[in-house]
Amino acid sequence: MADKGSFSFFLSVCVVSCLVVNADYTASATVGQLFVYELQREVFQSEFRTFQTDFIPYLTHYGPINIHPMAFKCSKEMYPDLPRWLRFTQRETSENGFLYGTPLEEDVGRNTIELVIVNKQTYDTFKDRLVITVTSPGKFMPYQAEFFMPLREIEIVLPSTVREDIMRDVQDMWGTENLEFVNITSALDRGGRVPLPLLGHFEGVYVKVGTDQYFSECLLRLQSSGHRQQCEATGTSKEDCSVCWDKSNCVNWCKSVLFDLSIPVIPTPAPTPGSGILDADDFYDPPDSLPSREFWADYLVTVIVPLVLALILCLILTYIMCCRREGVEKRDAKTPEIQLYHQRTIHNNSDELREMAGGRVVPPPLSTLPMFNAHTGERMPPLQRPFGADSSQIPLIMAQEEPNTDTLPR
Ligand SMILES: *[C@@H]1O[C@H](CO)[C@@H](O)[C@H](O)[C@H]1NC(C)=O
Repeated sequence: MADKGSFSFFLSVCVVSCLVVNADYTASATVGQLFVYELQREVFQSEFRTFQTDFIPYLTHYGPINIHPMAFKCSKEMYPDLPRWLRFTQRETSENGFLYGTPLEEDVGRNTIELVIVNKQTYDTFKDRLVITVTSPGKFMPYQAEFFMPLREIEIVLPSTVREDIMRDVQDMWGTENLEFVNITSALDRGGRVPLPLLGHFEGVYVKVGTDQYFSECLLRLQSSGHRQQCEATGTSKEDCSVCWDKSNCVNWCKSVLFDLSIPVIPTPAPTPGSGILDADDFYDPPDSLPSREFWADYLVTVIVPLVLALILCLILTYIMCCRREGVEKRDAKTPEIQLYHQRTIHNNSDELREMAGGRVVPPPLSTLPMFNAHTGERMPPLQRPFGADSSQIPLIMAQEEPNTDTLPR
């Protein structure tokens, strides 16, 4: 018995680890309907363990439930970005990521997505593949409605439980169970603004739902003219018949729209191109005379006014520079006389100063005398000078010690 048990345990370990290691993840999507794939961190965490081979994946089901923070990088295989219809979102590394979007006809077939998963706790990196098979045709859903939920954020709306809650509200409004999600978009992707990081501020989410059943009475009120007028005037509508069991799922009735795709859209006829050549007798007749334009006002403003201003400025400057110089007004512009007067006073003053200096009793400072030795204070007596010697024969600098040598008096 024990042998059998351990053998089956071993077998299941092998099977599980083979499956986990080798299999790509698969998912399927339908054209025109919302596709959501949740990248669950616990799933990838168990993959990391099999990767390290020191854990048995079988046991991780009972193992510690400490889910590591993870970052995902998703792209189309061999391409740098995701396919156009698919978007990825993950708010925090401590939360799951979501791949979501609505495939179109041209996306039918296998869409292989490469996932790079970085475990932000151990910094292990792991590469995996997700194969999304898009099938066509989807359900025929000519009647669609889009609701704006101002109190929601995309990552909070994408989990299936919240989507079910929203769907229940819409089912109540529409009166049918036969509804499908067509598109879920963050308001930020539609030009919405990033809200303040405060409690009670949300990005907002657009939810588009479709069915083959015609709109209910309640929904048709969205098209009444009274509703539109009220929305334009006040921003709220009395025609609001929306249901919200959960306050955060309440819709903004004024920003909700109906789409009736059952009415065929008549394509506008393309313009028929001509031959590109004028007929022989058709010729271009230019008009004889153009209506004359009046330029007088322009001329006045651009030429005359600045000219007059410049002239006035010039006159003012001339007056200031020539007629109002200091002293001129007193002496009636006899300029040479003033200059002579200045010169005379300077001359008289310096004469007076010299006289005063000559009458000083205090002996003049030694440094002013000739042949004074600045170091020794010694001075050559004027008697040494040969009487009547020509002053040009006395050396200007007496033979003495170099001022920089150490022969200064101690
Ligand atoms: C879904 O919404 C996005 C964003 O507004 C848009 O780009 C995309 O075309 C929509 N898809 C469909 C199928 O309507």
